[in-house]
Amino acid sequence: MEFIFKKDYDEVSKAAAEVFVDIIKNNPRAVLGLATGSTPIGLYKELIESNQRGMIDFSEIKTFNLDEYLGLAPDHEYSYSYFMKDNLFNHIQIKPENCHVPSGIESDYNTYCSHYEELLDSAGGMDILLLGVGENGHIGFNEPDKALSARTHVVDLTEDTIRVNARFFESVEDVPRKAVTMGMGTILKARKIIVLITGENKASVMERLFNCQRMDPEFPISFLVGHTDVTVIADEAACKNIREK
Ligand code: GLP
Repeated sequence: MEFIFKKDYDEVSKAAAEVFVDIIKNNPRAVLGLATGSTPIGLYKELIESNQRGMIDFSEIKTFNLDEYLGLAPDHEYSYSYFMKDNLFNHIQIKPENCHVPSGIESDYNTYCSHYEELLDSAGGMDILLLGVGENGHIGFNEPDKALSARTHVVDLTEDTIRVNARFFESVEDVPRKAVTMGMGTILKARKIIVLITGENKASVMERLFNCQRMDPEFPISFLVGHTDVTVIADEAACKNIREK
C-alpha cells in the first residue's frame, strides 16, 4: 500500500484527478469504480473541468458505483444515484447507459446482486476503483463485522454509520437502515484502487490504516493490504495522529 500525503483537500482532489486523467487518456474505454460521500466531490469537479477543457473523453467510459441506500429511488434527492448525476454525470459527456449505480428499489436482491456482478464482469472489471472510508473503517457499505461478504449484497447499516451519514438527510430518522454494496471480493478485483482520506474526523481511521498489517473484518478497509496496487492519498488533517508521533 502506497501513501501519498498532501497539504489539504484541494491538493488531494488534484492528485487523485491526475491519476484518473491518466487512466482515461491511456484507455478511453476504461471501466471506473466510483464512490459517493463528501470526499470525492473535489475530484469530480476536477474531472468535470478536464472534460470541459477537452483533456479527457468520457464517451466510451463505463462506471460502476459501489453502493446505494435501500428504499431510495434513483430520482430521490438523497440517493447515491442522484448524487452521482448531480456531482458528475450531468456535467460530463458520458452515456447514461454506461453509468451504473446499484438500484435501491429491487424486490429480489439475490437476483439483482448477481446481475450487478455479471454486468461488471461483462464490462471487463474495474480498471480503477475510487474509495472513501467511513469513520468506522467501512468501504462502500461493508460495515465492521465478524465476517465480510465477498460479492454485492444487502447490508444492515450500523448505528454509527446512520448517525454519521445523517448530515446528508433532514434528520437521523430519514437515514435508510439498509444498503446494497459491492462486496470485499468485488472491491479487491479492481485492478487499481485509489483511497482518499481527508479531514480531522478521519484521523483515527487513517492512523489505524497506516499501522495496519493484517486483514480484520472489524476494520473493513484493512482488507486492502491484500491488494497489490492501492494508493492512499491523504491530507494533513487526516494525518494528524501520525504526524504527532
Ligand atoms: C458513505 C459511503 C462510503 C463513503 C463514506 C465516507 O458511507 N457509503 O462509500 O466512503 O460515506 O463519506 P465521506 O466522504 O462523506 O466522509
